Amino acid sequence: MEPRVFLVGAGPGDPDLLTLKAHRILQTADVILHDSLVNPAILELAPAHAELVDVGKRCGKHSATQTTINKLLVAYARSGQTTGQIIVRLKGGDPMIFGRATEELEALAAANIACEIIPGITTATAAAATLQRSLTQRRIARSLHFLTGHGAEGGLPAHDWVALTRTGGTLVIYMGSQTIAGLASHLIEAGMNPTMPAIAVENVSLPTQNVTTATISSLPSRLGRPTGPTILLIGDALAADDDVEAIAAQAVVGVG
Ligand SMILES: C[S@@+](CC[C@H](N)C(=O)[O-])C[C@H]1O[C@@H](n2cnc3c(N)ncnc32)[C@H](O)[C@@H]1O
Repeated sequence: MEPRVFLVGAGPGDPDLLTLKAHRILQTADVILHDSLVNPAILELAPAHAELVDVGKRCGKHSATQTTINKLLVAYARSGQTTGQIIVRLKGGDPMIFGRATEELEALAAANIACEIIPGITTATAAAATLQRSLTQRRIARSLHFLTGHGAEGGLPAHDWVALTRTGGTLVIYMGSQTIAGLASHLIEAGMNPTMPAIAVENVSLPTQNVTTATISSLPSRLGRPTGPTILLIGDALAADDDVEAIAAQAVVGVG
């Protein structure tokens, strides 16, 4: 039987960054269970009759509600099996990157419900596009590491800082704006050059997009406390002579 349940990546915010498939599925949805971060302009693509359910999970916070989300998803999916409704679970960026997709897929599998996954543009690549900086570069950045700055217990996770620093690759940190001070000191203590380029991008791809350029040692004080979702990019690949903040200011952004 064709899946009636779709786990869909909404991309970083700009509706133009949805995949064609995500757009098409949204237009057929009867129910959309979405995260709070999803741009309302994307939800407007759903048919007027579609039920929109804000499952209210933001950036790994309130993780205690994940069980509730799983139960809700399974309940909607079950009733969709009998009514023929299309159920969409819509997540920011790509659902398979820091999206807790595993828990939701396992809950659906345990209930014998098939689910199709539609990837989305993850924030890291959208930020790279906005900054006009490649995250990998021959001889400069041979690897790319996606990290979370927010551990299950709330603070900074215990990454292997020495190993991360030694790779010389680009580090992209999701959910790291609140733990940036600890993150920066761990990296510097592990041997990272304090002048290593570090860039924070808040609200990537939206009109409220805001870029902070710094070094790893100055980023904590330069960044302050952003209110919107923020991604951090660290590494030699981010260095350049041009003015990255001016470039990002020229970037085409979507409706917010
Ligand atoms: C729970 S993670 C979800 C990541 C998402 N699945 C992805 O692929 O981008 C949430 C974090 O992603 C980053 N993020 C999501 N949307 C963003 C945006 N539009 N601008 C900047 N950072 C964003 C922030 O670091 C935020 O704390």
